[in-house]
Amino acid sequence: MSKTILSAKNLKTHFYTNRGVVKAVNGVNFELSCGECLCLVGESGCGKSVTALSLLRLLDSPPARIVDGKVSYGDIDLVKCPTRQLRQIRGKDIAMIFQEAQSALNPVLSIGNQITEQIKLHEKISRRQARDRALALLEEMGIPSAERVIDAYPHQLSGGMKQRAMIAMSLSCDPQILIADEPTTAVDVTIQAQILEIFRNLRARKQMSFIFITHDLAIVNEIGDRAVVMYGGRDVETAPVSQIINNPRHPYTKGLIACLPDISKTEKRLESIPGNTPNPIELPPGCPFHPRCPKAMEICNRDMPLPITISQGHTVSCHLYT
Ligand SMILES: Nc1ncnc2c1ncn2[C@@H]1O[C@H](COP(=O)(O)OP(=O)(O)O)[C@@H](O)[C@H]1O
Ligand SMILES: [Mg+2]
Repeated sequence: MSKTILSAKNLKTHFYTNRGVVKAVNGVNFELSCGECLCLVGESGCGKSVTALSLLRLLDSPPARIVDGKVSYGDIDLVKCPTRQLRQIRGKDIAMIFQEAQSALNPVLSIGNQITEQIKLHEKISRRQARDRALALLEEMGIPSAERVIDAYPHQLSGGMKQRAMIAMSLSCDPQILIADEPTTAVDVTIQAQILEIFRNLRARKQMSFIFITHDLAIVNEIGDRAVVMYGGRDVETAPVSQIINNPRHPYTKGLIACLPDISKTEKRLESIPGNTPNPIELPPGCPFHPRCPKAMEICNRDMPLPITISQGHTVSCHLYT
């Protein structure tokens, strides 16, 4: 077993709004091992992005507040450590590619200047050296004529090129951990394949650990080592990707797999799970999935199921297994 580099325990992030308390993340647990690619997967709104942003305390507070839990990075609890310390970790040790990556680029700065500023924020090196490194990174990302792209402004680049530039920027300080939030969602299928290829190459060449966020189990199957399936702001099933795909245990995971005609063994039709994702202002009592669950029992609308280990490295939070 590889060493854990980052872990989240019972992480809860709520938004205090005038409509009520939005329990966006409501008890998430995972451990990221050195060198692995851990996927967070679940339908839109289940709390993936809020989880990622909470890890580095990047949400505005108010309205967001981390109300419970712990995020351990070595000996440091990122939930509690001083902001000063966190600023040194962000971008340098733990880098992030935001879901709206393309709008995260500054429209009035050239790509090269954005990357060099990021480098100079954390390292004492000359402009020239920083620029050389930026150029090398853009080339590594497979950007043709990187020498021209380095002086281009975001609006002059295609969506795929901007996404590559964002990945280059996230790698500029050689992070130990890269959190990538839906890096393939806003681009078309061909670009999607190219971006996945970049991640595969990074995995082969660098000693990095990845948290890869996606709503798409087919992508999890391509890129992930292990996956955390999220629902209603919680982790409902965690296992090696092969287990999630071939031996899902939680009724929600089973439903997600049934929606995938390509890799599902049993379902030929494209199905969707009936019902809607829960409203995080009014989460149902008990298991958040019970109103949609074909296997729901009486206990499910009363008690929150606790995670149970059903085989090595495979945990599921479901009363069917208690
Ligand atoms: N700033 C905010 N204020 C209030 N609610 C928010 C805010 N940001 C996100 N949410 C809510 O938190 C829930 C989880 O959002 P998010 O983590 O973005 O989902 P995902 O990334 O899985 O699609 C959603 O219901 C979303 O509407
Ligand atoms: Mg998201």
